[in-house]
Amino acid sequence: MIYLDNAATSFPKPPQVIRAVTGTLDKLGVNPGRGGHRLALQAGRVVQACREEAARLFSMNDPSRIIFTKNCTEALNLAISGMLRQGDEVLCSHGEHNAVMRLLKRYAAWGQITLRVLPPDNLGILQPHTLQQHISQKTALVVVCHASNVTGVIQPVSRLGAVCRENGIPFLVDAAQTAGVLDVSPAALRADLVAMPGHKGLLGPHGTGMLLLGAGVSPEPLMVGGTGSASESMLQPDLLPDRYESGTLNLPGIAGLLQGMRFVRQHREEIHEYECWLNQRFRRRIAGLPGLTLLGHPDAGCVGITSFVSSEIDAGHIADGLDASGIAVRGGLHCAPAIHTWLGTLQSGAVRVSPGIYNTEQDMDDAAAVLERLVTLK
Ligand code: ALA
Repeated sequence: MIYLDNAATSFPKPPQVIRAVTGTLDKLGVNPGRGGHRLALQAGRVVQACREEAARLFSMNDPSRIIFTKNCTEALNLAISGMLRQGDEVLCSHGEHNAVMRLLKRYAAWGQITLRVLPPDNLGILQPHTLQQHISQKTALVVVCHASNVTGVIQPVSRLGAVCRENGIPFLVDAAQTAGVLDVSPAALRADLVAMPGHKGLLGPHGTGMLLLGAGVSPEPLMVGGTGSASESMLQPDLLPDRYESGTLNLPGIAGLLQGMRFVRQHREEIHEYECWLNQRFRRRIAGLPGLTLLGHPDAGCVGITSFVSSEIDAGHIADGLDASGIAVRGGLHCAPAIHTWLGTLQSGAVRVSPGIYNTEQDMDDAAAVLERLVTLK
């Protein structure tokens, strides 16, 4: 099988990640921060080591502002639900995933917020002046997806963040497709909140994610409950990170994520360059195939995602045809109907090919050759 669905989750995981997960389950299957015995303390040190690794990777001085979640969706839900009040206005880009869009639409349908989806330019880029034009007295949050999980187009987030700063509005970035390949530190993005999965570009296991809290933001917790601290109180503690981490943490996942992030910290730029190179090779091979249209724009940055539609063959059939030849890609709407609406592909869907660090030049050529056969034989 040639796996080209790394935008959904990276696979395979590095051996040190797998060893950390299995080794933790095998030798340290205890509850971190929930007891004074030596195994619990050792488990707590694994969690702390992972937080410190994240702080290094994301250039943050205070590791306690790194909040572990079960995925990027939970991190986004925590940030959005925790920041909003009745009557607020929220601005977001047209490229938001349903992890953002469904939550914002729900609050809008309940009459709690006003939502404005901002128009991009012809390349699919949200221009800072467009953001500035839409800001009002009521704007309480701006949410932008750093790179689309459909087109791979990268938004100018640090310039958008600068606009938010000038207007004193909190800025949330969804780094689902960029954490591990681009610099997604709150400082680099000029973001107050950065949400990310641990299991995509950071190479950790499923069930891991993080919310980075910039200085000065303090969303309400999404969940309250036991934290292993201040247990005499029936009120949620204010202490970070405990305020946001009620319930038993995913220790094996966090142990694996630590190893994934260690690898990424040493190799992030090479990873980005390599994945983009594989992606460009594939794009070049399939450009010009009969009836195929490539989505996104090569000048709008690169995160190793190529999506396309065929005028002749349904996206699902192409994805199934590739699968039948041993090539795993994702067809359909990628949980991102807003950008498919903008692209005009809501009815057709698209086929997405997303290489990762373990793919080779040969994988890309083989996938292109199978695709060529599918679209020319139809
Ligand atoms: N959001 C993930 C994707 O784009 C799962 O496939």
